[in-house]
Amino acid sequence: MNSAVKRIGVLTSGGDAPGMNAAIRGIVRTAQCIGIDCIGIRHGYAGLIRGDFIPLSEKEVKGITKRGGTMLYTARSTEFMTEAGLQRAADTCKYMGIEALIVIGGDGTFKGALNLSTYGVKVMGIPCTIDNDISCSTYTIGFDTACNTAIEAVDRLNDTMQSHERCSVVEVMGHKAGYLALNVGIATGATITLIPEVKYDFERDVIGRIRTARLAGRSHFMVIVAEAMEPVHAIADKIFDATGVETRVTALGHVQRGGEPLMRDRVTATGMGYKAVMLLAEGQWGRVIAMCGDKMVDIDIGDALAMEKEFDHDMYKMFTALTFLDKQMLE
Ligand code: F6P
Repeated sequence: MNSAVKRIGVLTSGGDAPGMNAAIRGIVRTAQCIGIDCIGIRHGYAGLIRGDFIPLSEKEVKGITKRGGTMLYTARSTEFMTEAGLQRAADTCKYMGIEALIVIGGDGTFKGALNLSTYGVKVMGIPCTIDNDISCSTYTIGFDTACNTAIEAVDRLNDTMQSHERCSVVEVMGHKAGYLALNVGIATGATITLIPEVKYDFERDVIGRIRTARLAGRSHFMVIVAEAMEPVHAIADKIFDATGVETRVTALGHVQRGGEPLMRDRVTATGMGYKAVMLLAEGQWGRVIAMCGDKMVDIDIGDALAMEKEFDHDMYKMFTALTFLDKQMLE
């Protein structure tokens, strides 16, 4: 294949996610297969500014698909948000002969890439975050693995809550969104899940639900809370004060970001890496690879950033029906 670019760079930026390494391998192996040189940029955009590079070939990416984290390290760079930082990054690309840059990360990462493209660097984005909050893609690399990690933890908590007849209040990540929390709540049969996309009345929807469940014979409870909601300790105190049920708090935190990626993340990441390189080789850039349901597509990066993610209200309705919540929530 006669590729439109001869040398590309790849970096990971923002919070890491399981599957980042699989994406890097997908990029490197595809690039090598069609004769494109691949340079790894370590520590995200900060590394691009200061020239923190490693050559990437088959040898460097051997066996990394199954590894969590990112072999390229990641960072959030404030310097890159300035004109001087962008200019330095563009100069470094020119100096290194990097014609195109594949960035793996979230919306912030894509914004950075779009800005860099105005300095003449060809860019391509791959959506990767455990939050699944990127507007242009129905799925982001890392989400499935993070959900499963949280599910395993909540299942364990359920065992001990049952033994002690307690209530567990569990904070899960998700940044400003509730996708992670909602899926974990559904998968673990939580008593209630509190997410920023849905308004709730504490007395009715939390205390009321616990009381109803108690009257129905239940003696332990699970409350899943998206990190964007009010602090979990405050929620736990209010539950204890209102119901007298002994309550314990767990913030799952960064545990959700680590670990070996599961099949969905390995396969999606590898496919996105492959597609990103193939598009560059065909002479296309300024795109984000995205999932539209089961289909892998590519979208103009500016359009992708302007999109708004639609919350799946039907899914929440299904959840409220299963937890026998006040019918008002279903309206
Ligand atoms: O975007 C991924 C994420 O883990 C969010 O869920 C969370 O809000 C944030 O990153 C935490 O970031 P940090 O790595 O700075 O603690």
